[in-house]
Amino acid sequence: MINNDATRKSDSCVMIIFGATGDLTKRKLYPALYYLARDGYLPSNFAVIGVGRQEMSSEDFKKKIGDDLKDFIGDGYDQSLLDWFSERTYYTGGDFDDDKALFGDIKDLLEMVTEKHSIPANFFFYMAIPPSLFADVTHKICKNGLAEESNGLWRRFIFEKPFGRDISSAKQLNADLLKILTEKQIYRIDHYLGKETVQNILVFRFGNSIFEPIWNRNFIDHVQITVAEDLGVEQRAGYYDKAGALRDMVPNHIFQLVTLTAMEPPVSFEADAVRDEQAKILQAIQAYSPEDVLNKTVRGQYDSGEIEGKPVPAYRTENGVPETSETETYAALKLSIDNWRWAGVPFYIRTGKRLERKHTSILIQFKQAPFVLFRDTPVERLTTNRIVLHIQPDEGITLHFGAKVPGPLVSMGSVDMDFDYADHFGETISTGYERLLYDCMLGDATLFQRADMVESSWRIVSPVLDVWDAIPARSFPNYNSGSWGPPEADELLERDGRKWKNDIE
Ligand code: BG6
Repeated sequence: MINNDATRKSDSCVMIIFGATGDLTKRKLYPALYYLARDGYLPSNFAVIGVGRQEMSSEDFKKKIGDDLKDFIGDGYDQSLLDWFSERTYYTGGDFDDDKALFGDIKDLLEMVTEKHSIPANFFFYMAIPPSLFADVTHKICKNGLAEESNGLWRRFIFEKPFGRDISSAKQLNADLLKILTEKQIYRIDHYLGKETVQNILVFRFGNSIFEPIWNRNFIDHVQITVAEDLGVEQRAGYYDKAGALRDMVPNHIFQLVTLTAMEPPVSFEADAVRDEQAKILQAIQAYSPEDVLNKTVRGQYDSGEIEGKPVPAYRTENGVPETSETETYAALKLSIDNWRWAGVPFYIRTGKRLERKHTSILIQFKQAPFVLFRDTPVERLTTNRIVLHIQPDEGITLHFGAKVPGPLVSMGSVDMDFDYADHFGETISTGYERLLYDCMLGDATLFQRADMVESSWRIVSPVLDVWDAIPARSFPNYNSGSWGPPEADELLERDGRKWKNDIE
């Protein structure tokens, strides 16, 4: 449930992180645990066991975690909290393929840790490992009797994205996991749902009375969702070159934004009530025929260019990227949601790396008011209203409307009304993972993806991938770093008489 009691603490439990020496543990998971502990949301009886391929002693792992936390938090770190974590952090390493040695060690360690810290055997396993290992590692955990829930004890599993690479692999993965776990034990994480501004979409829409009556095809002309990044592929070419922008961002993060923007009000904030409504939107998104893929989707790959005055290299010359790579680093799609509320209202979505700046927003463009009244005035065009939900950075909401320019003539100017999160609520430092880890400990799956949602998302994206795979992208690279993407993406909207809004701050 979203409206949970702020003072509610989870049952005492142990978190077991697979992939504990990786980047996610360092940049997100431990910092999130630190902030949860600081704010009093972790149970007092709590421990973490890191598991990785690397052999390392618990002492060395504790030291690494302590150093990483100091780096992350900077000067203001709280030594007593670091000591608290150090007392309850453990590590074991080994070969994930060997179901006896490593998994036997994990079992022994869990026995020791639960006894030492007086923790009932509630476990949550965090799979920060490649998706190809999800089913096998989970299977080994089950084989060692660590996944069985009995006597009121719980066993939960969080799986990082990507959850599959297409519709068939996602179905296979769901089927494999559901042979050994129940759906209630599975938490498919999407870190966008941990963002306050993303959670606020529901509160904004359904906690106010003035927006919902106009939130439909009678008033809205179209919706634009932009998830732009200025960073390139960084050190992740191994993963990214096989995934591409579409798989990496669309069936997960962007579809979360689409469903929360488009869904009907749920009957309650219970996990399945919210997810049922999101799932209905995914089911209503029209599937693409091969011809639609050619007309309604655009892909791009970045060339060299400049970002904030600094030269940056082309994707094909980045570390680990093949010189002839055809992987897209940009994707734009026109989606049609075939239901009563949204018929005829296109949702244009785009995402890309090395774009002009980091910027994620949802823009709701309203229809124009009738011009009739202004025919005999100097006003040439009316301002069209829009609401922009600024997801990140500079989180906030803007309402754009027209106002009379003071003076004797009727003249119209475009103005903005702005709400800024930081001004109203102060800056909150978080990784976005706090809420998700906390919810998993409480057994609340509202902000996690259900099996059917993952499969519906792939149903939409897979036909696009099939056509893109079959037809080589001859024009790559087709946009300069530091631009807003390939010209074809502009044409996608121009054909409908519309334009991307790039200048929103
Ligand atoms: C990840 C993608 O899931 O999300 C990355 O794999 C992307 O490629 C990142 O950079 C974006 O997340 P955020 O929170 O920075 O918008």
